[in-house]
Amino acid sequence: MSINSNNSKNSNKLENILIIGNGGRENALAWAIQKNELIKRIYLLPGNAGSKNINKSERINLDLNNIEALIKKLKSLNIDLVVIGPETYLADGLGGILRKNNFDVFGPGSDGAKLESSKSWAKEFMREAKIPTANFWKIKSLEEAKEIIFKSPNPLVVKADGLASGKGVYIPETKESSLQATEEIFKGKFGNAGKTIVLEEKIEGPEVSVFALCDGKKYVLLPTAQDHKRLNENDKGPNTGGMGAYSPTPLITKTNLEKITNEIIEPTINTLLKKNIDYRGVLYFGLMITKSGPKVIEYNCRFGDPECQTIMPLLDENFVILLQKCSKGNLIGNETIKMPDKFSGCVIATSKGYPLKYEIGFPIDFGNIDKEDCQIFDSGTSLNSNGEVITNGGRVLSIVCQGKDFDKVFEKAYKNLKEISFEGIFYRKDIGHQVRTKTLDDEIN
Ligand code: AMP
Ligand code: GLY
Repeated sequence: MSINSNNSKNSNKLENILIIGNGGRENALAWAIQKNELIKRIYLLPGNAGSKNINKSERINLDLNNIEALIKKLKSLNIDLVVIGPETYLADGLGGILRKNNFDVFGPGSDGAKLESSKSWAKEFMREAKIPTANFWKIKSLEEAKEIIFKSPNPLVVKADGLASGKGVYIPETKESSLQATEEIFKGKFGNAGKTIVLEEKIEGPEVSVFALCDGKKYVLLPTAQDHKRLNENDKGPNTGGMGAYSPTPLITKTNLEKITNEIIEPTINTLLKKNIDYRGVLYFGLMITKSGPKVIEYNCRFGDPECQTIMPLLDENFVILLQKCSKGNLIGNETIKMPDKFSGCVIATSKGYPLKYEIGFPIDFGNIDKEDCQIFDSGTSLNSNGEVITNGGRVLSIVCQGKDFDKVFEKAYKNLKEISFEGIFYRKDIGHQVRTKTLDDEIN
């Protein structure tokens, strides 16, 4: 369906923005976007309790499956730019549908989102483009898997092909557990997302996140970041969506970045072009810095969470202009991000039990937070009938601070965290351990 409209496609007007999503990532995007004076209104679909802290914002609730009504409403709101946060909507094709209906959209269509929504497709893409990544096998049956698993010298990593909310990856210690994981997935643990499985050679090294804002042909790199995926201190425990991050990361040196650009970023963009995929959105490269150089662990078609919350405070009011240029295919290619003389770090406060079972609905007391160079982005919150902010997810709050060095950044973040309370609050105390020279004072800990 394509509805003729008379909206912003041919103008550079940038007054009304729509941000789709309800997490900390979208809360941070909205905060960064509102800095630009051109912006008159930011519609958050649906946003969360943290939306009330975003200037010029308004929460709206629309059915994203009713495309006709959605388009009608967005036209009536004179939306100049749509920013789509979560991968699920991108994988379902919302970006392409809105673009076809004459909206400027930051976010790829379902063709580009396949880099995230099908791991086997992404691995084949990398093989074709000769992009460094772990060896892999695309598997359709348990028999096939058995043969490959037991022929390999080491236990293989097992991944459900499709979107599984970050839970579809197993890193087994033994070949038997690789097989067991394969069996679980084929038995339907992740539904259709597990109809195909990718087995991968296990690679080692620290992980970093690189983000390129793409307009289909050209790109601009954001400051780099390092996420902390494991639940517990010393990078132990189960994988999570991310327990904290810091930016920029010294793991990406000038030499590394050159290698990453030449061997990974540019071949990715060129191969998308070769496949006629007009990728207008952020390309998130999840990389591992191995002994033999940087390798791609995964692609994502959206901003990382909590990397986004960490990076946004380092950007100025021109960020939204870059998003608009990407959405229009208008980057010049020489745009650079003016970096402040600051570092940024984020600690995530979660509900007790996350990433497994947890309860929600507990009131949050924000205490007396020192707001200078510090932002609290809401990840999983809502308002109760009394208008109080309550917990509404596994990851609840993102506490983000900036400072002249990482010791100052995290000292402040943890001091502010001490002020915040809700039943069952949990957070890692060692976020940024890679770049801090001090552990926290006992009084803060
Ligand atoms: P993914 O969803 O593909 O990013 O995988 C989730 C996490 O699993 C990554 O962030 C890595 O920590 C780990 N991982 C994925 N693939 C591999 C691999 N081939 N070797 C070692 N660790 C991996
Ligand atoms: N921080 C990891 C992710 O967003 O996938």
